[in-house]
Amino acid sequence: MNFPITRMRRLRKSPEIRDIFKETSLNKEDLIYPLFVKEGLENGKKEVISTMPGEYRYSIDDAVIYGKELEEKGLKSIIIFGIPLEDEKDECGSQAFAKNGVVQKTIKRFKEETNLVVISDVCLCQYTSHGHCGLLKENDSIKEENNSFNTTESIEILNDETLDYLAKVALSHAEAGVDIVAPSDMMDGRVLAIREILDRNGYENTLIMSYSAKYASSFYGPFREAVSSAPSCGDRESYQMDPVNAREAIREAELDMVEGADVLMVKPALAYLDIIKSLKEEFNLPIAAYNVSGEYSMIKAGIDLGYLREDVIIESLISIKRAGADLILTHFAKDILDNLD
Ligand code: PBG
Ligand code: ZN
Repeated sequence: MNFPITRMRRLRKSPEIRDIFKETSLNKEDLIYPLFVKEGLENGKKEVISTMPGEYRYSIDDAVIYGKELEEKGLKSIIIFGIPLEDEKDECGSQAFAKNGVVQKTIKRFKEETNLVVISDVCLCQYTSHGHCGLLKENDSIKEENNSFNTTESIEILNDETLDYLAKVALSHAEAGVDIVAPSDMMDGRVLAIREILDRNGYENTLIMSYSAKYASSFYGPFREAVSSAPSCGDRESYQMDPVNAREAIREAELDMVEGADVLMVKPALAYLDIIKSLKEEFNLPIAAYNVSGEYSMIKAGIDLGYLREDVIIESLISIKRAGADLILTHFAKDILDNLD
């Protein structure tokens, strides 16, 4: 049926008509808010993150106070990122699985004092001296030729050896009471390693939200400044996905599902809406999307400079939901709670 019988504008004729025909909505319970918690920070002295206007590093106490404020505004869920003391970083990231590590302590406090769903990022990069997400093997023969470790070719990130460490990190978070562990390292087999250690220790009800399709993206730049996790040598391209690949994301997600992931995640979100959509179509698991630091800072900067109106925040988050995300991890959560149902 064509014009004049069909008139698309009938469906848009009033706010009420438009309201009842909305195909996509964004609600408070869709949002997961990332919180940066820094060991040793004095209470009341949150630190400005220069690359992420409006975001801060908090002491544990301050993070809990802020989390409670957001919970009162209707926030349902947070994801915790820890920043250890600089001089406690080592080759294998031991502070990542320390019983008294900053994340473990923060999880405990949130579980005791709030009803928020508490998610933890499981990785080593904030805790290793070299800043990689896995254990580093330095290749001496190549070192001799180049006389330095500062080339991608001279380093190798060990896969299987890293799995034991990631499993330990996840277990330590579960012991602290976390609801969901979210491995972000992109080692092969980590979901299985984590599922096994959790189950062996009586944590069969701890969920795994896997960063399944995590791309080697420049949109992570502001985050690495926020948590000082930039690799000191080489890059992450031997473990994170190449942005040019889409079909590979389906293989990654399939493996994670088979290994026991409860939720699949795509990261970043805005430049990867096609990946969100295809995972949603292929799998019957909940899909999360990570609206990463660079996406946040880019839009913030546009608004702060007066180039864009604040509406772009909701519009861009809606695009992520429309693509198929059930959940969105976003730094904008704090900014938009008051505008959502
Ligand atoms: C690393 C990790 C990254 C982010 C969260 N955990 C990316 C990276 O440095 O490779 C990015 C988050 C963001 O940019 O908001 N495990
Ligand atoms: Zn990492």
